[in-house]
Amino acid sequence: MEIIIHADATQVATRAADFITAQLGHKPDSVLGLATGSTPVATYADLVRRHQAGSLSFAQVTTFNLDEYVGLPPDHPQSYRSFMNKNLFDQVDIDLSRTHVPDGNAENPVEVGPAYEATIDAAGGIDLQVLGIGTNGHIAFNEPTSSLGSRTRIKTLTEQTFKDNSRSFEAGEFQPRLAITMGIQTILEARRILLLATGASKAQAVVDMVEGAITASCPASALQMHEKTTVIIDEAAASKLTLRPYYTWVLDQQDQIRDTFGNPW
Ligand code: PGA
Repeated sequence: MEIIIHADATQVATRAADFITAQLGHKPDSVLGLATGSTPVATYADLVRRHQAGSLSFAQVTTFNLDEYVGLPPDHPQSYRSFMNKNLFDQVDIDLSRTHVPDGNAENPVEVGPAYEATIDAAGGIDLQVLGIGTNGHIAFNEPTSSLGSRTRIKTLTEQTFKDNSRSFEAGEFQPRLAITMGIQTILEARRILLLATGASKAQAVVDMVEGAITASCPASALQMHEKTTVIIDEAAASKLTLRPYYTWVLDQQDQIRDTFGNPW
């Protein structure tokens, strides 16, 4: 894993937006895997600014979101489809028909996962998958003990995730306990992965992901098996890492290798 540590969440968002911009510069018709949650909001806002400034187009981009709540219609304010429309899609030049979010309101939610996988395959697979990480180490809604070989399916949320996400729901409002989520194996098949984490509440999950054993108890640790994962985090989220000087040294060396031999992207 490539570990990039910035002072604060604003710098993390800028670096993440740089990364996604570079991906679209390299391949304007990229297939992007996108995440919801509070972490990527600032990154999406930065991408919107770049689009409005005329330097970034999503006209040829296809997207697949990681997950959606079961039981919320797409136009529900707390659905992840609404989140994506509001925070990114409605503000850029993307063709909405090429944006995909699992259908949490399907008559038969069991059938959604295999169909979603088939649609990802038909699009040629995901070029860059953006991820957050849960305080419990989940990626997408792959909760601890999820199969490392899992694919898109219905997943029961843990009490911790239910509590973490309750801030988005009004008191007394229906809050789903089930979601349809890409599996860990689905995520690992993306060609490149960009994981973002900010804040002290993520520090334990981050150290378990980067320096712990590969285990279903920390689903994000499965990313250790991925060839091209970049982790961009702030100081607070990095605070439990024990090998920080090494990560900085690696980045210095990579810069030198790029300067000398070119950027293989
Ligand atoms: P957050 O969620 O960005 O709202 O912290 C991340 C996640 O649960 O994956």
